[in-house]
Amino acid sequence: MHCVKKITNDLIWVGANDRRLAMFEGVYSVPNGVSYNAYLLCDKKTVLFDTVDNAVRQRFFENLSYALNGRKLDYLVVQHIEPDHSAALAELADKYPEMRIVCNAKTAALIRQFFNIDVSARTLLVKENDTLDTGKHKLRFMFAPMVHWPEVMVTYDATDKILFSADAFGSFGALNGAIFADEVDFLKDYMDETRRYYANIVGKYGAQTKALLQKAAALPISMICPLHGFVWRKNLEQIIAKYALWAEYQPEEKGVLIAYASVYGNTENAAEILACRVRERGVKAVMFDVSVTPASDIVSAAFRYSHLVFASTTYNAGIFVSMEALIHDLTAHNIQNRTVAVIENGSWAATSGALIREKLQKCKNITFAENLISIKSSVSEAQLAELDALADFLAKDIKK
Ligand code: FEO
Repeated sequence: MHCVKKITNDLIWVGANDRRLAMFEGVYSVPNGVSYNAYLLCDKKTVLFDTVDNAVRQRFFENLSYALNGRKLDYLVVQHIEPDHSAALAELADKYPEMRIVCNAKTAALIRQFFNIDVSARTLLVKENDTLDTGKHKLRFMFAPMVHWPEVMVTYDATDKILFSADAFGSFGALNGAIFADEVDFLKDYMDETRRYYANIVGKYGAQTKALLQKAAALPISMICPLHGFVWRKNLEQIIAKYALWAEYQPEEKGVLIAYASVYGNTENAAEILACRVRERGVKAVMFDVSVTPASDIVSAAFRYSHLVFASTTYNAGIFVSMEALIHDLTAHNIQNRTVAVIENGSWAATSGALIREKLQKCKNITFAENLISIKSSVSEAQLAELDALADFLAKDIKK
């Protein structure tokens, strides 16, 4: 049975939610599920913005059919060809033979690659700032390459001042009856998953996100309709301000993230002592065991906090496996502009500290604390002073 949501008098959400997906893109856990948003504009012409993932295809077609209410579908705008938004494209093209596919040249090439179908005869190719008049509504297409694939474009409905933003401003998490961000306690309940989505999906492409924000800033926008998560119709500045920080790799909060890898608890002990000393100096500290917490959560927290501490045992003469994976993820997502401190542990030949520093040195504008604490098996009495000194440095740096 259909389950649609009215967005405006002319716009209907025809997407669907998936709460059974274990790993989004095969990599990111989604304990609260994920929504695949598609929108139908009912004007003189009917326009569908994107489709959905294969898992929710059936509900999407029920929704679309209901929303069309017997009308034909005139246009499918493909803003993003990644299969979580295009899995229904070929079936849609079959079901609605008069539908034209509005996309750019890069998208058209990718459609052929993914579907092995030639849709040239049905494709309306658009370039930057091209427009489509659908009756009352005037749609303008703007390219947003690498937010988060090269073909991505967003659409601006100049009539209702709606930005269809593709992956930008999206979030992990299924929609639980509410479609608008102002219907929920967004900051309390959904900001973390929105940050985790940005950091892990789009985080690598800060410069490109900034370019999109600049394009958007030139437009009067009353609503943002992303391909995942909530629609924004109030307090747009709230999410745009977060995006401005994230795109510049600027921390949202002054505070210390301590990520540790510990086999027998001794490296963890050092991390805990440091967290206590940091808190005693009036500074916020958050801790993650990298063997337990998924890397995507820690990457997200690294986008949030200003100071990062990595504590790792030495393993096979290198960095402990889960810490190495985390450091790789952070560098792959372009983490920048952070102050970093390192604690290593090695019972006979500690190498993890130098190796962590070496990998993070490739990131832009990373300032390393001079204090490299090197533990031999367990924290010694003398090293309590070293942890105190590191806490001093972190607290002073944060409060300066
Ligand atoms: Fe939601 Fe880049 O796809």
